[in-house]
Amino acid sequence: MKIIKKVSDIKRISASLHKEGKRIAFVPTMGYLHDGHLTLVDVARKYGDIVVVSIFVNPTQFGHNEDLSRYPRDTKGDLKKLRLHKADIVFMPENDEVYPADFETYVEVVQMSKPLCGKFRPGHFRGVATIVAKLFNMIKPHYAIFGKKDYQQLLVIKRMVRDLNFDIRIIGVDTIREDDLLAMSSRNSYLSRGERGVATHFAESLYLAERMYRSGKFNKPSDIVKFVKNYLKKYRDIKVQYVELLDAENLTERKDFKRDTVLASAVFIGKTRLIDNRILKKRCP
Ligand code: PAJ
Repeated sequence: MKIIKKVSDIKRISASLHKEGKRIAFVPTMGYLHDGHLTLVDVARKYGDIVVVSIFVNPTQFGHNEDLSRYPRDTKGDLKKLRLHKADIVFMPENDEVYPADFETYVEVVQMSKPLCGKFRPGHFRGVATIVAKLFNMIKPHYAIFGKKDYQQLLVIKRMVRDLNFDIRIIGVDTIREDDLLAMSSRNSYLSRGERGVATHFAESLYLAERMYRSGKFNKPSDIVKFVKNYLKKYRDIKVQYVELLDAENLTERKDFKRDTVLASAVFIGKTRLIDNRILKKRCP
C-alpha cells in the first residue's frame, strides 16, 4: 500500500495508471475509519483495478463553532485498517498544499445545498463540493464511492459531477449500522456511555417510521414527520434539529408518496450532532 502526501506525486501516479488502462476507484474520507468507511473500500474494489482512499480533515466544510479542532484522528489505526482491506493507495495531503494562503475558488451546488443540513450548516456543502472537486482533479478517478448515510452530500456530489462534466461515476452505498441500528459515524466516539445508549432511539425512530410506512400506515408525508418528532419527544436527551421528508432525487417538498422520498433527520445528543435517514420507496397508486 502506497502512502502519498504530495499533490504532484498523486497526479503523476494517476497519469501513469491511466496510461496503463487501469480503472481507478476512489473513496474520499476524513479518517477515523470505521466499518462504514471500510465497506466503501470493499465496494471500490469491485469497481476499480486500483483503489485510492483519501484521508483529509477538510477545514472548509466546518463552521466556525463546529468540531474541526477536536475532530477525531488516528492515522496509524486507519492505515492498518486500509492495509487489511487491501487499499492500493492512501492519499493524505497537507492542509497548506490543498489550501494555499491565497486560495479563493469554491464550488457551490446552489439549490441542493439549501435544505436539511444546509439550513443549519451554512457553507458546509460548499466546502464539501470544493474539496471533492479538488480531489477528483488530483486523483482523476473513474469511480467515486460515497455513503448514503450522508444522503444530501451524495446528491450534492452527483449534481456537481453532472453540472461540471466530470467523467466520474458516483456510486452510493447503503448505510452501515451498529447492532442496535445506530448509523456508524466517526462522531459516535464523542458520545458518553449514557448518550450512546440514548442514540439508539434516534436510529429506531426512523427505522420504525419506515417499517410503518411499508406496512401501509401514513397517508401523507407530514404524518411521518409528526410521528418521528413525537417519538423523539419521549427522550429528553435528544434535541431535534430537523425531521423532514423530501423528494429523494432533488430534495424538494412532497405532498404525496408518488415518488421515492428521503426521511432525514439531525439531532443533538449532548454536544454531539448526529444525522440519519431512510429512503421510502414510492407507493404505486
Ligand atoms: P467522512 O465523514 O469521513 O465519510 C467518508 C465517506 O464515508 C462518506 O461518503 C460517508 O457518507 C461514508 N460513510 C460514513 N459513515 C457511513 C456509514 N455508516 N455507512 C456507509 N457510509 C458511511 O463525508 C466525509 O467524510 C467528507 O464530507 C468528505 C466526502 C470526505 C469530504 O471532505
